[in-house]
Amino acid sequence: MAIAATIPSAQFQGLRPVDAQGLTKKIVEPILKTENLWKLYRAGKVEVPALRGVNFSVAPGESVAVMGPSGCGKSTLLYTIGGLASASRGTVLVDGNDLATMSDAERTKLRRSKIGFVFQRFNLLPTMTAKGNIAIAQYIHGDGFDPHRFDVVTKLLGLEGRLNHKPSEMSGGEQQRVAIARAIINEPKILLADEPTGNLDTKNSDIVLEMLRQLNKELGQTIVMITHNPEAVTYFDRVVHMRDGVIVDGIPAD
Ligand SMILES: Nc1ncnc2c1ncn2[C@@H]1O[C@H](COP(=O)(O)OP(=O)(O)O)[C@@H](O)[C@H]1O
Ligand SMILES: [Mg+2]
Repeated sequence: MAIAATIPSAQFQGLRPVDAQGLTKKIVEPILKTENLWKLYRAGKVEVPALRGVNFSVAPGESVAVMGPSGCGKSTLLYTIGGLASASRGTVLVDGNDLATMSDAERTKLRRSKIGFVFQRFNLLPTMTAKGNIAIAQYIHGDGFDPHRFDVVTKLLGLEGRLNHKPSEMSGGEQQRVAIARAIINEPKILLADEPTGNLDTKNSDIVLEMLRQLNKELGQTIVMITHNPEAVTYFDRVVHMRDGVIVDGIPAD
């Protein structure tokens, strides 16, 4: 007999679901979590608070779009959760690992194994083909070329016909798809993307957003993406809004 594990009504929301044998079901831990995260930049004698107490959680397999005006701290949030910048205060947990308790070397290792980055600028190696740009990430990672993963990723991103072209022979949309392939080829748990469609026209933006949606739905790739594109709402599970260094969703306007 199948074990039922349902929450009977709204009054029990927030309680742990209990199965028919009275055993507590395992609650899924967030893959990414920040608690009261602050980031201060020093500009001369002045400290600029880029993040002012951000509480942010992402479940495994979720796709989250982060929106907000320029300068509100979106990139800082992404770089801090990705271990590219250190927190001034508060906690960042990546797959259960507290970044503040780790050495630089441990953080770098964690970032390389668990996180893929995509930026607005594609940053491809100009002298290499698309295939080379993607495959080199597998070699750097240390596991060598994995033809199966390579085929899955390049097919999903519609790159099969472009693999022998160099970046200068590809459109912006194609180059960004190569950059995404490079970012996920080693199966990172989290893909972090900072305005990946910021340099693309509407048509290519839509293609890239649709491919990110497919990566999420078909490969279960967890994605956090910063965007100014209101269309992202239709492609992603959840949209989070930032303003002045905090997440404002659920906070009443004053
Ligand atoms: N390296 C830095 N040094 C000093 N201030 C910075 C630095 N990076 C960002 N800032 C400041 O932090 C704030 C948030 O920046 P950022 O995270 O880039 O915002 P967004 O990505 O939302 O445009 C801004 O006021 C910006 O000027
Ligand atoms: Mg930014």
